[in-house]
Amino acid sequence: MSVTQQQVLEQLAGVTSPRGVALTNANVLSPITVSDGKVFFSINVDAAEARAWESVRAQAESAVRAIPGVTAAMIALTAERRPGTAAPPQPHRHAAGGGVAPVSTHRPPQGAQSPMSRQAEIPGIAAVIAVASGKGGVGKSTTALNLALGLRDLGLRVGLLDADIYGPSVPRLTGIREKPALNDDKKMIPISRFGLSIMSIGFLVEEDTAMIWRGPMVMSAITQMLRDVAWGTLDVLVVDMPPGTGDAQLTLAQNVPLKGAIIISTPQDLSLIDARRGLAMFRKVNVPVLGIVENMSYFQCPHCGTRSDIFGHGGARHEAERLGVPFLGEIPLHMAIRTTSDSGNPVVESEPDGPHAAIYRAIGAEVRDQLRGVIAAA
Ligand SMILES: Nc1ncnc2c1ncn2[C@@H]1O[C@H](COP(=O)(O)OP(=O)(O)O)[C@@H](O)[C@H]1O
Ligand SMILES: [Mg+2]
Repeated sequence: MSVTQQQVLEQLAGVTSPRGVALTNANVLSPITVSDGKVFFSINVDAAEARAWESVRAQAESAVRAIPGVTAAMIALTAERRPGTAAPPQPHRHAAGGGVAPVSTHRPPQGAQSPMSRQAEIPGIAAVIAVASGKGGVGKSTTALNLALGLRDLGLRVGLLDADIYGPSVPRLTGIREKPALNDDKKMIPISRFGLSIMSIGFLVEEDTAMIWRGPMVMSAITQMLRDVAWGTLDVLVVDMPPGTGDAQLTLAQNVPLKGAIIISTPQDLSLIDARRGLAMFRKVNVPVLGIVENMSYFQCPHCGTRSDIFGHGGARHEAERLGVPFLGEIPLHMAIRTTSDSGNPVVESEPDGPHAAIYRAIGAEVRDQLRGVIAAA
């Protein structure tokens, strides 16, 4: 049985907005995506009203999940306000809207670490770290997954969150095809693979589904993946960030409770410039940069093992020194890394005794050492 948009709209008509009208008449819904039983849309509201809408979002989600044939629903609440700027006072709006108390009076003070705060720690997770890059295609996802496996090999409990909503590649890199189930608290249960707890927006929407994400929607979807997922107890949650240093990435860096960030760069100059932007971005939001990794650092011939520095290797190490951030290591450009990644069997898992696994573990050890004090087990 296939679910239709019409069915979704009919269900949503039964949900009442804080303004007292049906959700479908409140002029807040984004286009609704229905694909293979998975439903995704956002509710776009004024930032000042966001808290009053949170329960509506939850009701809408339950209503959609109740439709026979719906296997997953992700409904993002997006607030039209740039983070860091105070919401303009709007006392009259609420009065005119009728009946709803001004939500601003219930707000915690700005910057407070209330459990509602987007910066609040995630219970059970000792350290959330971002793997970022200035541009796409530098091997960010490959590195994030293999690094997560390297950390696992060090005896840590590790999760991986694929937050690259523009191109979620973790389903492909891990070969995961199933959809996350919900627990009794209606939280998504991450998929367990290779001893990692894994969550990706790609489990809910197809990798090639062309989706136009606006900044606030990105944030909302990621907040939901961080907080509405039953992660359990983790030492480290590795977040595969969307590539680039635009607004969406900045918002993310600002709103996810990050203990640190790792920048992936290739040796080419352009990529290093992009890496510098990444560094500046994290510094701007006071997230410590744990270091730079040089990926596709040198070419290693799969036949004879000979090393060629085809890109003029070493740039990232120099750059790291110059910028005063740790250099975490260099990963060769090697056929085995690509083929294992693309077949859903990452190299640290498929060739645990090989040279590449050793490199990822060494980078993992550096990262763990830097998180000492944050991770109890480290
Ligand atoms: N060190 C490497 N050696 C060989 N291929 C690599 C390496 N790192 C990444 N790749 C390949 O490069 C492509 C892009 O990598 P990916 O991790 O998806 O990049 P990003 O997440 O930055 O877009 C993939 O096909 C991947 O298998
Ligand atoms: Mg990627």
